[in-house]
Amino acid sequence: MTAIHPPAHRVWWKQPIHKDEVVWIVLAFAWCLIMFFMMPYWHVYGKQNLSNETYRVKPAMFQRASEEMVAKWTVRTETDEKIPVVKPPAGADLYLIARLWAWWPILELEQGKSYRLHLTSMDYQHGFSLQPENINIQVLPGYEHVVTITPNRAGTYAILCNEFCGIGHHKMVSRLYVK
Ligand code: CUA
Repeated sequence: MTAIHPPAHRVWWKQPIHKDEVVWIVLAFAWCLIMFFMMPYWHVYGKQNLSNETYRVKPAMFQRASEEMVAKWTVRTETDEKIPVVKPPAGADLYLIARLWAWWPILELEQGKSYRLHLTSMDYQHGFSLQPENINIQVLPGYEHVVTITPNRAGTYAILCNEFCGIGHHKMVSRLYVK
């Protein structure tokens, strides 16, 4: 029987099931269960999947919080676009905006201190990818992801967008300083 021709028996579902088919169903089901239980397992023992919180948020509210943070703690600006570099105190809430096609602002953190990093998008779906740590978080409009971060190594990290978001996707890069 092929998928092109009609089945030989019109009421095919009443025919006895072939042994090969049973084997494949069992194999596929077992694999599904393995994949399913890998999710909680990987969350606990893997190094990439973060414990984060997610909330609904209005872009305008998030933008206001971000602008307040920038007004309080900006230490300098960088690049031709004069993107503010924000150096918040330990424990602060950080509001990082993703939009077509930039991250705003740039963050400068202190090694060994903890912060609450809030992420949202002003327009479409973007992806927060911190390199070379390989930490990845979805950034969606209308939602904020909140992650508690404690940078344990000083350096300049790259923030890349890893969800294709249009013609300027490849330019959607930024940095994160840890001192
Ligand atoms: Cu933003 Cu790709």
